[in-house]
Amino acid sequence: MSKITVWFIRFAIIYFLVSILLGIHMSMSGAVYPWMPIHAHFNLLGWMSMMIYGVGYHILPRFSGKPLFSDALATAQLWLSNIGLVGMAAGWWVKSSGGSNTVLLVFSLLEALSVVFFAVNMFKTIKAAPAPAPAPAKK
Ligand code: HEM
Ligand code: HEM
Repeated sequence: MSKITVWFIRFAIIYFLVSILLGIHMSMSGAVYPWMPIHAHFNLLGWMSMMIYGVGYHILPRFSGKPLFSDALATAQLWLSNIGLVGMAAGWWVKSSGGSNTVLLVFSLLEALSVVFFAVNMFKTIKAAPAPAPAPAKK
């Protein structure tokens, strides 16, 4: 596995563990804000999306029989998606403490940019592979 895949999977598991703790906290305390959007996005953009990014970077170039379009774009995406997600969590916390939307907006844009980086890299990597040749007929 490439370093990018390993790091995305490591981060995915960490977000999963943290979001499960947040879920249990909410189940006990009933507090929903800012914990609910943080829990939801650590699960959906952290655990699920990062697991998909990690597995996707490993498997989609192999399915295509073509190397990944850009390792640099993938590395930038690894950084941006984590900075964006942790920043979004901070943004929800700021909002719930009476602050403005600005922190949430800035980090949401970084997170969205990381999704665009993934999309570009994958669109440039995937292509239809020729169907495997049929097995020779047995005599
Ligand atoms: C041990 C595991 C989990 C626990 C204890 C837990 C607990 C909770 C609780 C207490 C809420 C607030 C519900 C409410 O008061 O309306 C919630 C919301 C939510 N959870 Fe979890 N959760 C868990 C796992 C997950 C997972 C694995 C996902 C996604 C992959 C997930 C996605 C969500 C989403 C999207 C919401 C927001 C729902 C809404 O907008 O109404 N949760 N969770
Ligand atoms: C760049 C990406 C994303 C941004 C900036 C974003 C932003 C937001 C914001 C600002 C909210 C409102 C939260 C609140 O104030 O209560 C929200 C809610 C929600 N989003 Fe996202 N989101 C993103 C990606 C996603 C993805 C990929 C999913 C699902 C796979 C998702 C599922 C949800 C759900 C279920 C809620 C309702 C959660 C709640 O009630 O707390 N979001 N999102």
